[in-house]
Amino acid sequence: MASSLPPPLLIVAVLLAASLIPPSQSQASTCTKQSFNNNKRYTFCNDLPSLNSYLHWDFDEPQSTLSVAFIASPPKPDGWVSWALNPTSSGMAGSQALLAFKQPDGKMAVKTYNITSYAPLKESKVWFDVKDSSAESSAGAITLFATLVLPEKGKTVLNHVWQVGPSVTGGVPDKHEFQPANLNSKGSLDLLKGQTTASTGGNSKLKKRNIHGVLNVVSWGIMFPTGIIIARYMKVFPSADPAWFYLHVSCQVSAYAVGVAGWGTGLKLGSESKSITYSVHRNIGITLFVFATLQVFALLLRPKKDHKYRIYWNVYHHGVGYSVAVLGIINVFKGLGILQPDTKWKRAYIVVIAVLGGIALLLEAFTWVVVLKRKKADKSTKPYEGYNNGHSRQEPLAP
Ligand SMILES: *[C@@H]1O[C@H](CO)[C@@H](O)[C@H](O)[C@H]1NC(C)=O
Repeated sequence: MASSLPPPLLIVAVLLAASLIPPSQSQASTCTKQSFNNNKRYTFCNDLPSLNSYLHWDFDEPQSTLSVAFIASPPKPDGWVSWALNPTSSGMAGSQALLAFKQPDGKMAVKTYNITSYAPLKESKVWFDVKDSSAESSAGAITLFATLVLPEKGKTVLNHVWQVGPSVTGGVPDKHEFQPANLNSKGSLDLLKGQTTASTGGNSKLKKRNIHGVLNVVSWGIMFPTGIIIARYMKVFPSADPAWFYLHVSCQVSAYAVGVAGWGTGLKLGSESKSITYSVHRNIGITLFVFATLQVFALLLRPKKDHKYRIYWNVYHHGVGYSVAVLGIINVFKGLGILQPDTKWKRAYIVVIAVLGGIALLLEAFTWVVVLKRKKADKSTKPYEGYNNGHSRQEPLAP
């Protein structure tokens, strides 16, 4: 595979693979530098691992009383922030949540919700008693203060979940986004040791999504279009025959192998994501797989170059091939929209596609010049036949 991958693509593949390695965690914690208007100080604080959120707390073990200050920034100014304990499970379902948001009168409210599903939230009693609560909003961040009495004495390691949402409609918080940061905002909280650890489920899922992304960007997003460029522009040169053919086939067959692996990881991710389906991304992915598989089998059915049906085969092969390239690129962008990696990866991919497009454009112009010149030269000797290199029809530009 490496031999058919031009060096710039190898570099891109390596760069993409490097993105799988998680960035080293910055050790300096931000929460220790945060202070509160009422000069309240908490014994423990943690920079939470996602959504730029912070948790400060005091725990009175004999009384089972937990005082918290939770700081987060909603994605929009009129959004909400939430911190929850989950006594029964590790995710959102079953969590006992405190939510803070601005009411229509401009005052901040803190409400409690027993969250059982993605259905619209209804204020309710929760697992713990809330002795007092308040919230402040400043500079885009909301701080939620609460003192809770936990019902189960001795239970000092708890699962917690936190979240931010964009808006509140008629007093009801609207649903949050489903980006990785929103799905990984959960962990385990040791009230006595002052540590919160991210639950590993989310991270391994993120890793799987990254692997899925890299495999598919490299195959559908880069190798397939490159293979098309090889076929379209190399076969004009008689000296490149039949090298272009083998190069094209090996590039597309390796793209297919990588692409099928990427497609498989996509199916796995899809089956694991019960509550959310990215149906457009999924359907384009399935179409791509079908089309690419057809292309591989079409190779076996290819009529001889001078067979009268060869022209139909060519039309079919080119049509499906171009569709794979276009759909592949569209689906890479759909996937980037879902995965939301660092913006540099989207930019890097745009640069790669722009470079491929630029190369194709230059070669297209160059090919036209060559072909027109040849036609002129051929006319003087052989009026109709034109140039024919064997594998392609005389007009290499006709799709
Ligand atoms: C929260 O809702 C669930 C499901 O309706 C229920 O079983 C549970 O008792 C409720 N918890 C509280 C504290 O009300």
